[in-house]
Amino acid sequence: AKNGKLKNKNVLITAGGTKEALDPLRYITNRSSGKMGYALAQAAVEAGAVVTLISTVERRLPFGSKLIKVTDAREMLDTVLEHFDKTDIFISAAAVSDFRPAKQSNQKIKKTGNQGLKVELVQNPDILATVGAKKTGQFVVGFAAETENIVEYAKNKLVKKHADMIVANEVGHPDSGFNVDNNRVIIFRPKQAQKEFPLQSKIDTARSIIEEIIKSVFE
Ligand code: C5P
Repeated sequence: AKNGKLKNKNVLITAGGTKEALDPLRYITNRSSGKMGYALAQAAVEAGAVVTLISTVERRLPFGSKLIKVTDAREMLDTVLEHFDKTDIFISAAAVSDFRPAKQSNQKIKKTGNQGLKVELVQNPDILATVGAKKTGQFVVGFAAETENIVEYAKNKLVKKHADMIVANEVGHPDSGFNVDNNRVIIFRPKQAQKEFPLQSKIDTARSIIEEIIKSVFE
């Protein structure tokens, strides 16, 4: 570890977009690549942490970290809850599907002729809000990927999800956000001025975020 500020700290990170099954072959998902979550894992390892990634995607794993592969939001929530008690810092970087199909067919859904297909969706649990409400000293970090009103939405998320930090990024720009290598973020904390970062690579953004977490936890 380059600097040992997170030595012996357990950091739990979710990454990737959840996949919500319609049938054994098909699922609903989103454009998340998992890059930000993996970059955060790398930056946390560099700071000496013991890192567990709970992810829907497999990418190159930072040396010494551990991956638990999951598929949908409910499986991700169960896995997070299994680890949360022994977690010091939880970072919710996953793009969790807000909705899932109400029914999951056991067999492949067949063509209907000309009738189309109606799919009913129900709301998924909010993983960040669930653990935010349960925290007993864990430092909890969430993301806010928005296409508009990021400041307002990010501040609301701090309160609603009991988060200690919200990292906001504007998505829908070609140079920043989902499935690209760069990111520009603004960090929000309760009772503290917001902090804006320049456009940086995702690994440098991750290092900035980990540095800010270290400041919040130790200073
Ligand atoms: O409410 P919204 O989806 O904009 O909040 C984003 C933050 O909440 C991210 O940190 C994301 O990982 C987390 N989240 C979650 N479970 C959901 C939806 C979002 O953990 N069902």
